[in-house]
Amino acid sequence: MDQSLKPEIYIFNSLEKASQALAERIMKISSDAITKKGKFALALSGGRTPRRLYSLLASEYADKIIWEAVHLFWGDERCVARDHPDSNYAMAYQTLLSNIQIPAQNIHRIHTELHPPEKAAESYEEMLREFFNNPEDKVLSAFDVILLGVGPDGHTASLFPQSPALEEKSRWVAAVDAPPSFSTRQRITMTFPLMNRSRAAIFLVSGAEKNTVVEMILEEPDRATKIYPAARVQPRERLVWFIGKKE
Ligand code: 6PG
Repeated sequence: MDQSLKPEIYIFNSLEKASQALAERIMKISSDAITKKGKFALALSGGRTPRRLYSLLASEYADKIIWEAVHLFWGDERCVARDHPDSNYAMAYQTLLSNIQIPAQNIHRIHTELHPPEKAAESYEEMLREFFNNPEDKVLSAFDVILLGVGPDGHTASLFPQSPALEEKSRWVAAVDAPPSFSTRQRITMTFPLMNRSRAAIFLVSGAEKNTVVEMILEEPDRATKIYPAARVQPRERLVWFIGKKE
């Protein structure tokens, strides 16, 4: 029997509208989580697509989210300095972090200054296991939400097709190499064992170059799981797609 979650799919006629709707959804989820558990654990995605979402969270939604109860993480990071143009942290800092009142200790950056990359991955995993296995805080065992994007090759976070990291069964974080076509090849990424512990995984996707991948993932999931890493994200409670067409 198919155990996979049926995805919730929301299609908008622009990335702007998809970003507005997702900002509203994140605000609501965070409010519920904070009411129930006193905190909200959100893993951010990188790349270009979420920039507008993050700037909305930092502007129209800045006063609607209780940032001191929010903990931010990253689904993946490029092995560059935190202020490098390719850094996912730098993008989030410019669009979100520098514009909200969030305690510094609630920002859980991937420490890419640790070398080799395996050390940065181990350090991040150690922090995550401590954060989620806190004996005083049984209710928070994983992310409430992990935000994800999709590449035209079907990658998500930095889990690329044919990567050995796709078969990781126990470790939560891995050091990987992106394909040669990518400017920053050394990456740190969450693996499926961690991603799939999340309560919800929310994809924000836009761009015609991803249509083929997204259509197969949503219409032929069994076939897609053999080809596209993004098809193998299976959170515990909710799998959601916010799609902005016509970009
Ligand atoms: C990264 C992201 C990656 C991204 C996709 C889509 O570090 O690049 O985590 O998985 O979400 O590559 O990127 P765009 O949003 O730029 O299309």
